[in-house]
Amino acid sequence: MHTPRDCHNGLKARKVNGFDLSHYLNSRRDWVETQLAEDSALSSECPSRLSESIRYSLLAPGKRIRPCLCIMACEACGEEGRKALPAASALEMVHCYSLIHDDLPAMDDDDLRRGRPTNHVQFGEATAILAGDGLLTLAFQVLSQKLSPTETALACVVDLASAAGAEGMVGGQQADLEAETAIDLTLPELEAIHRRKTGRLLAAALTMGGRIGGADSDTLEKLKIYGQSVGLAFQIADDLLDVLGTSEKMGKQTQKDSDHGKLTYPSLLGVETSRQRAKDLVNQACDAVSPFEERGVPLIALAQYIIERDH
Ligand code: IPE
Ligand code: IPE
Ligand code: MG
Ligand code: MG
Ligand code: MG
Repeated sequence: MHTPRDCHNGLKARKVNGFDLSHYLNSRRDWVETQLAEDSALSSECPSRLSESIRYSLLAPGKRIRPCLCIMACEACGEEGRKALPAASALEMVHCYSLIHDDLPAMDDDDLRRGRPTNHVQFGEATAILAGDGLLTLAFQVLSQKLSPTETALACVVDLASAAGAEGMVGGQQADLEAETAIDLTLPELEAIHRRKTGRLLAAALTMGGRIGGADSDTLEKLKIYGQSVGLAFQIADDLLDVLGTSEKMGKQTQKDSDHGKLTYPSLLGVETSRQRAKDLVNQACDAVSPFEERGVPLIALAQYIIERDH
C-alpha cells in the first residue's frame, strides 16, 4: 500500500509490474471520442452553423482528463468503465463550454485553443456564446437520458450542476476575473479561486464515476479527496505551464497570465514553491486512493502525470 511519501517509488514499481499509463489513456480516450461524436450528432433542428461550432470545439484534440478520471473512478470501484461514458461525455461538454467562454474577448481574450483558432475567432462571438450554452445544456440532457438507474443519474446531475455552477466553476471564473484588479491577495484566496474554477469539476469527475461504479459513502469520500487534490494540482501545473511551457506543445498561447495580471501560483509563490505545492497535493491524492490497491494504480499514475505533463 502507498503512503504519501512513497508515491513516486510506488509508481515506478507499478510501471515495472506492467502498467502503461499512455496505453491505458489512449484506449479510454478512444471510447470517449466515439461517445462525444455520437452525443453531439444533433438533428437538423439545430442550425448547422451552431452544430458545426459545437463540434469544432468539442471534437478538437483535448486531453480528455476529466472523462478519463470519471472512467478510472468507476473502474477503481470494480465496475466496467464503459458504464461511465455518458457521465464522461457530459463532463467534457461542460469543460469544453467553459473553455469557449473562458477564451472570449470579455474574459481571457485568447485566439488559440487545442492548436486551433478559438471558437469566437472561427465563428464569431455570438455563435461562440451560443455554442457554450448548447454544450452546457446538452451535458445535462445526456446525463439524464443515458445514465441509469434514475437515482444514479439524479445524483450525477446534482454533482455536475453544483461543480459547474455559481458556487463552483462559474463562481471561480468570476473570482478569477475580480482578482485581476484586486491588490494584496493571499494564498488562501488564490486556492479558493483555483478550487472552484478547476478543482470542483475534476472532483465531480471522480464522484460521478464512483457513483456509477457503486461506491459507498466512504469510498466516495476518498475519491472526492483525490479529485480535490488533483484538481488543485492540475491548475497549479496549468499556471506553471503558462510561464514555462510553449504554445506549440500547449496548443494555446502561453505567457498570458502575467499580461492579464492574473493571480496565479507562480506569480504569488514563485516557480519552485508552486512545484512543491503541486507535488504535495499529488502525494495527498495518492494517499487518499491507496486503499484501492491494484485497482487504484491508474489513478496514482494519472496524478503523477498531471504535474509532469508538458501540455
Ligand atoms: C484547460 O484544461 C483549462 C483548465 C482548467 C486549466 P485542460 O488542460 O484539460 O484542456 P484540454 O481539455 O486538454 O484542452
Ligand atoms: C480556466 O483557467 C479555467 C476554466 C474554468 C476554463 P485558465 O484561464 O487558466 O485556462 P486556460 O489556461 O485558458 O486553458
Ligand atoms: Mg481564465
Ligand atoms: Mg484562459
Ligand atoms: Mg491557464
